Amino acid sequence: MRKNFLFAAAVLFLVFGCKSKMEEQKSQANNTVETKAFGTLPDGRTNTLFTVSNKNGMTMSVMNYGGIIVSLTAPDRTGKMDDVVLGYDSLADYLKDNPYFGALIGRYGNRIAKGKFSLDGQAYTLALNNGQNTLHGGAKGFDKVFWNIEPVSSPEGAALKLTYTSADGEEGYPGKLDVAVTYTLTDDNQLKIDYRATTDKKTVVNLTQHTYFNLNGATSPIVDHELMIKADRFLPVDSTLIPTGEFLPVSNTPFDFQTPARIGSRIDESHEQLKHGIGYDHCWVLNKVNGELSLAAVLYDSSSGRQVEVMTTEPGIQFYSGNFLNGSNIGKSGVAYRWRYGLCLETQHFPDSPNRPEFPSTVLNPGEVYESQTIYKFSIR
Ligand code: GLA
Repeated sequence: MRKNFLFAAAVLFLVFGCKSKMEEQKSQANNTVETKAFGTLPDGRTNTLFTVSNKNGMTMSVMNYGGIIVSLTAPDRTGKMDDVVLGYDSLADYLKDNPYFGALIGRYGNRIAKGKFSLDGQAYTLALNNGQNTLHGGAKGFDKVFWNIEPVSSPEGAALKLTYTSADGEEGYPGKLDVAVTYTLTDDNQLKIDYRATTDKKTVVNLTQHTYFNLNGATSPIVDHELMIKADRFLPVDSTLIPTGEFLPVSNTPFDFQTPARIGSRIDESHEQLKHGIGYDHCWVLNKVNGELSLAAVLYDSSSGRQVEVMTTEPGIQFYSGNFLNGSNIGKSGVAYRWRYGLCLETQHFPDSPNRPEFPSTVLNPGEVYESQTIYKFSIR
């Protein structure tokens, strides 16, 4: 009796043991990384496009230049895959004119007023690349540098580790900054982004990702997408999009996305803040406990059924409704990206924090590790 039981247990173990082994191989096989040359940079370096996929057939392509996510495909409610991010078909187009499509942003995402800040009484001056302010790291931010890319194995899915060392004084920022960003495409349809940085001198850091989403595959403007932002306050800005320092309640304003709302339902109202941004281009103050990973936003497109939940450890999210797109950027497959054809949900610390001691600090000291995580989780509804 006992012998039979042991025999049955051994058979079961072999059958299920082998099955799980086979599934593991299958899942590894589906998580392959393909590479292809994607143009040559002006300094002669080859720009490689790395494409990873998950077991549900989602794919993500990332290139060395700017750490840019060139494409990301996701299923609609019928299972049809579409590319849901804006971008170009060639490196030449990215080099010519890229309004940060898909790019990694640093050393300081968003704006620093008048390109100036001080640390311990020492003043630093940055390039002014957005009127009188510095935007997204300066004249040659992390969106324009060459990132080393290495496929790494992750139990959750296919992952790409991007690394870059920013020299002391680059773009005016103090300290040699070693940055590592990992993009993981998980087998449950999440794009997980992990940021890590260390410095050898006191500096400021605010890293983010500037992917423009259009969940219906860029066939129409994003004003029909529905958005929820988990924030009861946002940061009003001046006419140059620098925060005034106030924290304004969103209730009874077009900035209230606490319950899901169609983006276009209030975007053209005559609210002073919408005039400054020519639409939404503001940072929302997320309702959260400091530093914890929590839900920040949910984006939904009823025509395709695609939904993206955004989770982050960051205190803020910049929602930019693609107000500066005007049809002059001819994107993938020859599609002209017209006004509001894509939107960004950039998780981050608040704009101009280096000049605002009352905002959560963006200072990084030697010996400390900057760590931040953001997840874009795709599903259908
Ligand atoms: C950010 C800014 C916007 C705009 C875009 C790029 O989202 O907040 O004002 O500069 O980048 O066009």
